[in-house]
Amino acid sequence: MTFPFDISATDGRARTGVLKTPRGDIRTPAFMPVGTAATVKALTVDQVKQTGADILLGNTYHLMLRPGPERMERLGGLHKFMGWDKPILTDSGGFQVMSLAGISKVKEEAVTFSSHIDGSKHVLSPERSIEIQADRIGADISMQLDECVAWPAEEPRARSGMELSARWAKRSKDAFGTRDTQALFGIQQGSTFENLRRESSDRLQEIGFDGYAIGGLAVGEGHQAMCEVLDYAPQMLPADRPRYLMGVGKPVDLVEAVWRGVDMFDCVLPTRAGRHGQAWTWDGPINLKNARFAEDQDPLAPEVPCPASTDYSRAYLHHLIRADEILGKILLSWHNIAFFQALTAAMRTAIAEGRFEAFRRDFHARHVSNG
Ligand code: GUN
Repeated sequence: MTFPFDISATDGRARTGVLKTPRGDIRTPAFMPVGTAATVKALTVDQVKQTGADILLGNTYHLMLRPGPERMERLGGLHKFMGWDKPILTDSGGFQVMSLAGISKVKEEAVTFSSHIDGSKHVLSPERSIEIQADRIGADISMQLDECVAWPAEEPRARSGMELSARWAKRSKDAFGTRDTQALFGIQQGSTFENLRRESSDRLQEIGFDGYAIGGLAVGEGHQAMCEVLDYAPQMLPADRPRYLMGVGKPVDLVEAVWRGVDMFDCVLPTRAGRHGQAWTWDGPINLKNARFAEDQDPLAPEVPCPASTDYSRAYLHHLIRADEILGKILLSWHNIAFFQALTAAMRTAIAEGRFEAFRRDFHARHVSNG
């Protein structure tokens, strides 16, 4: 069984619909808050739920190091462990090895790395990644193990990463098999090379996945170069399956990717920015540390339906952030997640009502001109 994906409306290349899973519906376009270490940093699951999030992202890399896959399984899996009963998607680990681990080595068989926590040595193969995600963590959606090549890359290097990812896609699928209540997504690679993205997409579709991710972006290439890849990459993936742009991004990145046919996103930006005093709003990003908020008694963002956005003054949030109070990080993380959910909800409505082009124009005028 694969999760049904009902696309209820399209507007240009943009789509809105529902990915149906046994743990609940995922309304698309969807933003997945990142719960790296079995927590969306600074937030309770009730707070995350109140923002309207349908699905969280977890990380194989972090969870395999701490608390460890076998302990996670003994504790009943990630949903029970953290008290989140809606869907969870896990990233496969390779990307986090590249960005976080100490010394790491990619070989045909597996990636070997040392933990950023205690230096201990670990091996992650496509088969072991699937076992950890699907069997130990209990993810609703598992991702294939892939190799994300650093940017910029020469074509031969981008090709070798894409080809290894395609071979690992096959091994991931063989290890996953077919399951009744869990799904597996493949990951397109190929850096900024259209021919490589095409070949990657063809090879993934030959294997067959429940959904298809676009990997290897948001790695330093910048908004314009990313948009140039998104001008062709989503169209290469099956129209009837969800398309997930990994690790993206800023609100303007989400709007431009949805415009080009992407359905799902994840990013640490709302929580990370919140911990640093930055709030994302319809009028662009603001930093509450700024002295201009010291006596600003307006609420943070009255249009965002979240207590953190409506019930506290900017002056109070400015004070909390300046004083490095833990509540400041909590409230701004909560608001930012709520804003990202409000943004995807507004996009879903605009697509359903056939006015996404106007939505995008208004968004640029109001948000980007201030950003
Ligand atoms: N997160 C952001 N980009 C990537 C990617 O290319 N691969 C994986 N597995 N995770 C990512």
